[in-house]
Amino acid sequence: MNLFRTKSIEQSIGDTRESAHRLRRDLSALDLVVFGVGVIIGTGIFVLTGQVAKDKAGPAVAISFVLAAVVCGLAALCYAEFASTVPVAGSAYTFAYATLGEFPAWIIGWDLILELALGSAVVAVGWSGYAASLLDTIGLPLPAAFSDPPGEGGGVVNVPAVLLVVAVAALLVLGVKISSRVNAVIVAIKVFVVLLVIVAGLFLVKGANYTPFIPPSRPNPSVEGAAAPLIQVLFGITPVSYGWLGIFAAIAIVFFAYIGFDVVATAAEESRRPQRDLPIGLIGSLVVTAVLYAAVSLVVVGMEDYRRLSDAAPLADAFKAAGHPVFATVISIGAVAGLTAVVLILLLGQSRIFFAMSRDGMLPEWLAAVHPRFGTPYRSTVLMGVVVAALAGFIPLAKLAELVNIGTLFAFLTVSIGVLILRRTRPDLPRSFRTPLVPWIPILSVLACLFVMVNLPVETWLRFLAWMAIGTVIYFGYGHRHSHLRARTARRAARDAP
Ligand code: ALA
Repeated sequence: MNLFRTKSIEQSIGDTRESAHRLRRDLSALDLVVFGVGVIIGTGIFVLTGQVAKDKAGPAVAISFVLAAVVCGLAALCYAEFASTVPVAGSAYTFAYATLGEFPAWIIGWDLILELALGSAVVAVGWSGYAASLLDTIGLPLPAAFSDPPGEGGGVVNVPAVLLVVAVAALLVLGVKISSRVNAVIVAIKVFVVLLVIVAGLFLVKGANYTPFIPPSRPNPSVEGAAAPLIQVLFGITPVSYGWLGIFAAIAIVFFAYIGFDVVATAAEESRRPQRDLPIGLIGSLVVTAVLYAAVSLVVVGMEDYRRLSDAAPLADAFKAAGHPVFATVISIGAVAGLTAVVLILLLGQSRIFFAMSRDGMLPEWLAAVHPRFGTPYRSTVLMGVVVAALAGFIPLAKLAELVNIGTLFAFLTVSIGVLILRRTRPDLPRSFRTPLVPWIPILSVLACLFVMVNLPVETWLRFLAWMAIGTVIYFGYGHRHSHLRARTARRAARDAP
């Protein structure tokens, strides 16, 4: 039983040419950057900024945003090398198959469900909150049973979230180009709103709100036990808010705001000139958003005392508190439009990962069919649409954003290790983008991901380990037995036997 059998890069690229499984190459470098920005700016900046400033970092939340961008930037440099060398759908899953072997690849594919499927469900629920409050503003309130997340405030089923996911999945079936056009419009609205917050907010900043910039740390008994960051439990530190420990704990949460830039790599097979354009898409979108996030968070904590920022809609509410309700409404409209794109692209990424896994026989092969007219993997898209709609509609997800983070960090870590391995095992491969300063950048990336991971709560680790255990059982029950690579290797061994 060889769990670490690797699939050669040539084989991975060869599979993309089989006509039954061929995706359409439609995306340019600009499409990719717009894709990246579309998926990145979302709940992280529109919702989490307030909570994190209030509970963990104070006005210094901008430092957490910048440090989180550094962690992602290190990983992006590793993703860029891989994506330009192996331009095949499936991203981290495909890279792991080429370097670490079949079992680790399965584990990463399974792990990415946390980032992409769970992530899109979490964002769909956030979207529904903003949409319900906008409908309320225009005098069309939804009954709580159909708008609140299940189990919260009388919520039974989150209808807006379900409708959003269904609409988005339908769009994805129609084609990646039309999806990317819709995305481009949304990104324009979203970036406009973010710039509006920065420019209009600047006039409302009060210097006093910045002192102290890093509030002194103080014990926080509300995050004891399983809710405490792993590192603080391991070292027997009483959980604290604020100070540098608070800023570090905040990185683990605001990291969510950057999730998605790696989805650009899952669109590798649909990009026209992947070797040149993927590194531009990955790194470009990350740089643009990091600058915007640092500016927005600085402005917002300057507008309102961090202790008074709202948990649900901090950007809009800061303008309301400053006596500018019209700006607040414009921001809410931007958030509703903006979060739609996040759900769209996370779901796109998820369907491509499932597509790649089923093409390899690790999941049922019928999922890998490409639509004869639209050129999209419609079956995996519909399946994921149904699963994500059910998750968003019926499961309380508020606590699961951190599970999305740990899943993503684990994928980043694996890709960084993969770059080191591929440099040794296949130094001959043409790499149009090379991660600089190897081995240092990949090693730093692994350490940075581990650092952020240990700053996540103990309960997140337990959920993550349970999810991985389920994945392992499924691999041995299905993937291992149906893997095409395994069958191919067995056939070759039989042929070569004397
Ligand atoms: N980065 C995305 C967001 O913040 C997932 O919503």
